[in-house]
Amino acid sequence: MRKQVVIIGGGPSGMLLGQLLHLAGIDTVVLERRNKAHVLSRIRAGILEQGMVELMHKAGVGARLEQESYLHNGTLISHNHEMFGIDFQQLIGKSVVLYGQTEVTRDLYAAREKVGGDVLFDVEDAEIHDAERDHPYVTFRRNGRTERIDCDFIAGCDGFHGVSRRSIPASVRREYEKVYPFGWLGILSETPPVNDELIYANSPDGFALCSMRNANLSRYYVQCSLGDDVGDWTDTRFWDTLRHRLPPEVGEALVTGPSIEKSIAPLRSFVSEPMRWGRLFLCGDAAHIVPPTGAKGLNTAASDVHYLYTGLTQFYQDKDSDGIDRYSEKALARVWKAERFSWWMTSLLHRFPDQSPFDLRMQGAEMAFLRDNEDAQRVLATNYVGLPY
Ligand code: FAD
Ligand code: DHB
Repeated sequence: MRKQVVIIGGGPSGMLLGQLLHLAGIDTVVLERRNKAHVLSRIRAGILEQGMVELMHKAGVGARLEQESYLHNGTLISHNHEMFGIDFQQLIGKSVVLYGQTEVTRDLYAAREKVGGDVLFDVEDAEIHDAERDHPYVTFRRNGRTERIDCDFIAGCDGFHGVSRRSIPASVRREYEKVYPFGWLGILSETPPVNDELIYANSPDGFALCSMRNANLSRYYVQCSLGDDVGDWTDTRFWDTLRHRLPPEVGEALVTGPSIEKSIAPLRSFVSEPMRWGRLFLCGDAAHIVPPTGAKGLNTAASDVHYLYTGLTQFYQDKDSDGIDRYSEKALARVWKAERFSWWMTSLLHRFPDQSPFDLRMQGAEMAFLRDNEDAQRVLATNYVGLPY
C-alpha cells in the first residue's frame, strides 16, 4: 500500500490531522494500536481553547460541539477555603469551551467513517523505516500478518508511550522532564456539578478541581499520593476528601453519588526536541506532556496539528517546504509557553511534600497577588484561553 501521509496513533491528534488533510485532498491512513471502543472510552481533557474549536470547525466536525458544548467565561480559584473569580470575558474578552475529549474523538471517528478514510485498528509492532531518507515506510503486524505502507511523510501522533519519538536516534533527541511528587485521582459521577464554573482549589490538604461534562455529569479531581492505587479510594473516601478541600459553602452544596469512572494519572512536564526528524513529525503527547492543571494537554496537541497541517498543505498544494521545515521551531515555541503555564498553575495550586514554611508563604503571597491584581489575572486569563497560533 502507498499513502501520502501515514499517521501513527488514532487519538485526538492523529484523527484531527487526518480529517484536515483529507479535506485538503491529501491521502492518509491512521494506524491505531487499540480498538475503537477502547479509544472512545478514555476519559481525559474537558476544556477547549478557541483555536481548537476553530480547528474542529475547519475539519468539518463542529456541529455537535456547537450544540452541546458549554461556554465558560471565567473560573474560580480557592485558596485555604476562600474563593475568588477570574473573569476571562471581562479581562480579555475571550472564553473557553467545555466539551470532553471523549466527544471530540467520537466526532472525529464519525467524520472519518463518513468520508471512508482508512483507520486500521489493533495494529501491533508499528516500526518506522528510513525516516531520514526520501522514501520512508512503516511496517506493522495485524491479524497475524506483517504489512508495509510506503509514504512521503509520517506523523507520529501516538502519545507519550508510542513508538514514534523513540524512532528518533537518541543522539538527535534532547529531552526535558520534570516529574511531580503527586498524582491526580479523577472521578466521573452522574450528579449535577457543584458549580457552573470550574473551581481550582488549593487547600491545606492539597489540590482539588471541580469540573463537569454536562448538567448531570460531574468530573472531579483530587491530588493524591504517587503510591496510591485506585483500589485505595472508595467513593466515600473520595467525596470526603474533595468536600474537605473546598470552601465550606461549596462542600455543603456538593451532590455525591456512585462514581462511574475512577482513575489516577501521574503528573509530569516533558518536552522532546526536535519535533521533526527527516520525514517524521511528532505531534501532541508523542512530543510533550504537561501536568493537567490548566487544561493545556489536548489544546497543545491541537496547535501542533495546526502547524503540521498548514506545512503539509503548503508542501502539496504550493510545492513550498517552508512550513514543514519550520514545523519543529514553530510548534516548540508555543509548546514551551504551555509548559510554563501548566508548571506555574501546578506550582501555585498543589501542596508539595517537601514544601517549607517559606515556600508556603511564597505560594500564599502569589495567590494574594493574583486575587488582588488585575494584571496578574489578565496573564492567567490570556494563557488559560490559549495563546494565538
Ligand atoms: P493520545 O490521546 O495519547 O493518543 C495516542 C494514540 O496513539 C492512542 O490512541 C494510542 O492507543 C495510540 N498508540 C500508542 N502507541 C501506538 C503505536 N505504537 N502504534 C499505533 N498506535 C499507538 N489533558 C487535559 O488538558 N486535561 C485533562 O484532564 C487530562 N487528563 C488526562 C488524563 C490521562 C490519564 C492522560 C494520559 C492524559 C490526560 N490529558 C489531559 C492530556 C490529554 O488527554 C492529551 O494531551 C491528549 O490525549 C493528547 O492527544 P494525542 O492524540 O497526542 O495522544
Ligand atoms: C478538566 C481537566 C483539567 O485538567 C482542567 O484543568 C480543567 C478541566 C476536566 O477534565 O474537565
